[in-house]
Order: sequence, then structure tokens, then C-alpha cells
Amino acid sequence: MAIVVIRNDEKTPQWVSLLQAQDPEIPVYAYGPAVPRKAITMAAVWKHPQGSTAEFPNLKGIHGLGAGVDFILEDPDRDPALPVMRVVDPYLASDMAEYILALVMSHLRQLPEYGRDKANSAWHPRPYNRIANLRVGIMGLGQLGMAVARLLAKTGFPLSGWARTPKPDPGFPVFHGAAGQAEFLSGCDVLVCLLPLTPATRGILDRKLFSNLPAGALMINVARGPLLEEADLLLALDAGNLSAAWLDVFHEEPLPAGHPFWKHPRVNITPHIASVSDPASVAGQIITNYKALMTGAPLRHQVDLQRGY
Ligand code: NAP
Ligand code: GLV
Repeated sequence: MAIVVIRNDEKTPQWVSLLQAQDPEIPVYAYGPAVPRKAITMAAVWKHPQGSTAEFPNLKGIHGLGAGVDFILEDPDRDPALPVMRVVDPYLASDMAEYILALVMSHLRQLPEYGRDKANSAWHPRPYNRIANLRVGIMGLGQLGMAVARLLAKTGFPLSGWARTPKPDPGFPVFHGAAGQAEFLSGCDVLVCLLPLTPATRGILDRKLFSNLPAGALMINVARGPLLEEADLLLALDAGNLSAAWLDVFHEEPLPAGHPFWKHPRVNITPHIASVSDPASVAGQIITNYKALMTGAPLRHQVDLQRGY
């Protein structure tokens, strides 16, 4: 019985050693040809090569190393009978909230515009807005969306939210489902997308949705790239539906050289760093889930495979 870590980046050794440190009696391997295939009972994965989890005949579960599990559920070679677990972590939530607060404050005081002015040696004072007048709407009120809402509410931003199901007493207006979407959007000067990528949400950030926002809104996508119809974003920016966009996630990552977003003056980009799982904080919950998986105890943060999140 053992764990294999399968990732698409250079962080595998760090994850292996931190998982190993949790319980030295549990063997933890970095994915590769030397891993004893039959010994592996749990795979801990982040953007793993599709099909790789099928190499382990005694696998009992797959643990994502982040909050989103779209890349696991999209793997056509995944055994659909296996439970899938994901990360729920206080730092993942607070890091996301701090990132969104930084972007919204920077938008409020037009810091990207002043950055461009400096590059052009232009002295160009502008009128400015206040926190109390900037309405922020959050799509997706789960672990991360709620953390963002708590921090923005504490800072004084007028808030609203949108989710699949109603939320009792969140302290701000919450809309839900298709029926509540247009009314929600009409009150968003800033739209923050924190929805999971599922068949129901793919492409949701499209021309029709942008047309329901107040003219000149800011759109922030920190969820997953394929939620956004990229061509529709460019049209909405040109038409003035949107004044700007902040994007942390993309259809293809890294964003390819030559992609029109790189040069667009009102598309701001960060390289999928809004909130990154901290292995030191997360390793404990993965080992707890591994032990639960081995003993048949209840799993934590198990993904609903029907809903897709
Ligand atoms: P979560 O706890 O599962 O919350 C998901 C929220 O989305 C819930 O409020 C859910 O509604 C809502 N939702 C799902 N499908 C919907 C639909 N069809 N219509 C309306 N609302 C829907 O997820 P989380 O932990 O907050 O994470 C959200 C996403 O953030 C992840 O899936 C991941 O893709 C992304 N992420 C990005 C970064 C980054 O660095 N950029 C970091 C971490 C995570 P209900 O409450 O009604 O179920
Ligand atoms: C990051 O994107 C995550 O899903 O944790």
C-alpha cells in the first residue's frame, strides 16, 4: 500500500517529502518507471498525464492536489468507480481572497492605467471611485468564493453572489440558478468568477453574460480558462460592455506566445498564481484521507462525480 505523486511541474520532490514526513511508514513515490505499480493504492495528482492513473491496478482513490478537479474528471482513462478527493485549505481560501482584494483595489484606483501612463511618460490625473460605490459580484460561493466575500465585506465593498443553490443568511444578496443570473449580473461593477469547470459552467463567461453586466464592468476570471469564451471577451472589451479583464487562468497554460491577450491593453494577466496549494499546509489532509481510504472510514472533501465538483 503506497501513494504515488503525479504532477506536471518541478514540485513533485517537495510534495513527496512532505507527504512522507506526515507518516514515515507510508511509502510515497514520485511518478516514474521505477514505481512498483501494484503497490500503489492512492494517486495524488495535479495536471497528471492523462491515462497515468490507469497504470496502477490496485488504486483505491485519486486525490487532487488543488481545489479544482476538472483535469481529473476529464481523463477518459480514469476508473469512474474510484472516489476523487480535493483540497480544502484555509491558506488556499485566504490567498485567493487576498489576491481578489488586491485586484479590486487596483481597479478602484486605476493602477493598471497609471502603470501604462508611466510607460508613456504621461501625467494624467483621473477622477476616482470609492469602496462604498463599487459593487462586486461573486459567481461561485464555495470554499473560495465565500472567503473572498468575507474579506471584501469586511473591507466595505457592496457585495452580491450567485451559486447553483440558495444560501441561507450569507449577509449579502445571493441569486441562484439560471433564473437568478441576469438580475445578479445587472448589479456587478466587478464580476469575480470562482465557479468550478463542469459541463454546466464551460463557456459560461460569454457574450450574452457580458451583455447583462453594467457597461464598463471589470471581469476577473480566477476559476478555469475554459469557463471563458475568449473571442467573446475581446468583443465585449471592444464594445465597452467590459472596461477590462483580469485573467489568472487560460484555455492553454502557459498562455501561448502570440495569443491576442498578451498585447491587449485592457487584458491583465497573471500566470495561474491567484492561490496555490501550500504542500506544508495540505499534506496532512491528504494523508488523513489516504488512511481513511485504506480503512474504509469516511473521506473528507470528496467530489460529487455527478455534479463534477
Ligand atoms: P467549491 O467549494 O466546490 O464551490 C463551487 C461553487 O460554485 C459553489 O458555490 C457552487 O454552487 C457553485 N457552482 C457550481 N456549479 C454551478 C452552476 N452550474 N451554477 C451556479 N453555481 C455553480 O469550489 P472552490 O473550492 O470554491 O473552488 C472554485 C474553483 O476555483 C475551483 O474549482 C478551481 O477551478 C478554482 N481555483 C483557482 C485557483 C487559482 O489559483 N486560479 C486556485 C484554487 C481554485 P453551490 O454552492 O450551490 O453548490
Ligand atoms: C488551482 O487552480 C486549484 O484548483 O487549486
